[in-house]
Amino acid sequence: MTQDEMKRDAAWAALEFISKDSIVGVGTGSTVNHFIDALATIKDDIRGAVSSSEQSTAKLKQLGIKVLDLNDISELSIYIDGADEINGQKHMIKGGGAALTREKIVAAVAETFVCIVDSTKQVEVLGRFPLPIEVIPMASSYVSRELKKLGAKPVLRQGVITDNGNQIIDAHDLQITDPLALEQQLNNIVGVVTNGLFARRPADIVLVGSSDGTRVLK
Ligand code: A5P
Repeated sequence: MTQDEMKRDAAWAALEFISKDSIVGVGTGSTVNHFIDALATIKDDIRGAVSSSEQSTAKLKQLGIKVLDLNDISELSIYIDGADEINGQKHMIKGGGAALTREKIVAAVAETFVCIVDSTKQVEVLGRFPLPIEVIPMASSYVSRELKKLGAKPVLRQGVITDNGNQIIDAHDLQITDPLALEQQLNNIVGVVTNGLFARRPADIVLVGSSDGTRVLK
């Protein structure tokens, strides 16, 4: 089974968690693209979607799924998104697709976060995948210097501008043994918009696609 097939299986398994007449928070990435395909098959049973990126918005609209503005709704029951890495505490690294800020906003509003991943994303310790950090462009050198003080090797993601008009620094070589503390520490660096650690708001349910089928971790 290929990695993409495992992603697809986990994504389709998420349909089971969508209630009738609900609004669905939709993440970003190749796993979520499979989920959007799945969601399109039940589009008449839901009120619509809240999207975490221009990329997902375009695909949702293309498949005829209504996209709602987060500011126009008062609650969101569910958010479905992928991850770049996930540990046993359901803490994640996200942002490989540069959509981390809007993803973190939608995840914060949602009552339940269902993370859809293939088994290669599961790790003991976060950090092998470089940690994405969205920064205000004029602060990128300063933030890079601060990241070096924390032991990271910062690399500016060339040619990438986020949906919010900012840049991404990928922090390499971090062994993240305390994700909650590091998430807060990074948030305190002036010029950082969002960091890709999702520890304060971990996933609630994880659907792990593997060659043996999709496992549900609660
Ligand atoms: C997007 O910014 C990311 O947070 C994605 O959720 C993450 O990169 C997973 O992407 P794939 O589903 O493409 O592996």
